[in-house]
Amino acid sequence: MAPTSAPLKPTVHKSFDVEKDLVDMKGKVVIVTGGNAGIGLETVKQLLRAKTRKIYLAARNETRANEAIKALAVEGLIVPGEAEVFWHKLDLSDPKEAKASAEEFIQKETRLDVLINNAADMYSLDIGKYGVSTLHLVNHISPYVFTKTLLPLLKKTAQEPDSDVRIVNLTSMAYSQVPTPVSYKTVEDFNVKYSYRPFAGLLRYANSKLAMMLWSRHLQSQLVASESLGNGITVLIVHPGVVTSFRVKTPFLEGPINALARVLLGMVEPNVGCLTSIFAAASKQVRDERERYQADGGVYMQDAPVPGTVKKMTATATDDQLKEDLIATTEQFLKDIGL
Ligand SMILES: NC(=O)c1ccc[n+]([C@@H]2O[C@H](COP(=O)([O-])OP(=O)(O)OC[C@H]3O[C@@H](n4cnc5c(N)ncnc54)[C@H](OP(=O)(O)O)[C@@H]3O)[C@@H](O)[C@H]2O)c1
Repeated sequence: MAPTSAPLKPTVHKSFDVEKDLVDMKGKVVIVTGGNAGIGLETVKQLLRAKTRKIYLAARNETRANEAIKALAVEGLIVPGEAEVFWHKLDLSDPKEAKASAEEFIQKETRLDVLINNAADMYSLDIGKYGVSTLHLVNHISPYVFTKTLLPLLKKTAQEPDSDVRIVNLTSMAYSQVPTPVSYKTVEDFNVKYSYRPFAGLLRYANSKLAMMLWSRHLQSQLVASESLGNGITVLIVHPGVVTSFRVKTPFLEGPINALARVLLGMVEPNVGCLTSIFAAASKQVRDERERYQADGGVYMQDAPVPGTVKKMTATATDDQLKEDLIATTEQFLKDIGL
């Protein structure tokens, strides 16, 4: 019997310098979902500083998107013909809109080098469209559809000789707190309430992020298995750190609680919180070691001790049966709503 060897892991790196350690972004086309605020906006800024040719700021609200673009121009980060930003409409609360948004993108662009699925809902606890929790619609199902619909364009870009196509999916380290056992056998499982537990809202958010991680691992494995993809497509799962753009939403106590949380949790500002996304989207290390990053369903990385530090995933996030159940339930749900 041939000896089996464990997949190679990415090399541990000690530091990461946005000035020196990024690939050449000139000529690249990037989508940042939720690029109008928080970590997404700071990600856009860093990518502009790296002279990324075209960034599509995918957001649901035109006014907020255009205000963000105006602010980028005032900062001098937009250079016509060299580093530009455009609003692309994307509302993740409805998978049908997410699919339409991706289809529209394919009509207007001929390449897509990096897709950063950054937008998320951290607070809604309602049941949204089609009887599914808004958290799962925004954080898992719509990014799934958006990405799946963009795949032909990502794959086309990956055929080019010097391609380095990446999909960056933002999760939260809170995923590891999801109570076990987890089930994704039916759509009802997306609506789990945890009402008998403390921090039930956080757990529901974490559950949607766990789904995104399982889907990311499925996608990376599928892409590695598919043939003639040039350098392949690297799927990276990112926890950005605990960042001040996250706010505890408690009436009356919001101010004091958030001030305290900043200190106790060692929160960082979004301009620091974006660094792991930048490492995943544009670092030389991911390009130079892409086979290691793509192996074994891909990697999960955190902000500490340095941005892009690869961390072992929990047994739940690497549970193949759970992953298969999730994909089957997600696909059945999409079929049921006509997608
Ligand atoms: N902040 C943290 O401490 C932390 C920790 C772990 C993980 N993360 C993850 O990091 C990512 C960015 O977080 P952040 O702190 O920058 O959050 P944020 O400041 O609240 O920004 C969230 C972004 O998502 C967009 N969004 C929300 N619902 C949407 C929808 N239905 N359709 C389209 N866009 C929608 C928002 O757009 P609007 O402006 O229109 O609302 C906004 O642009 C998220 O994936 C989050 O889960 C954050």
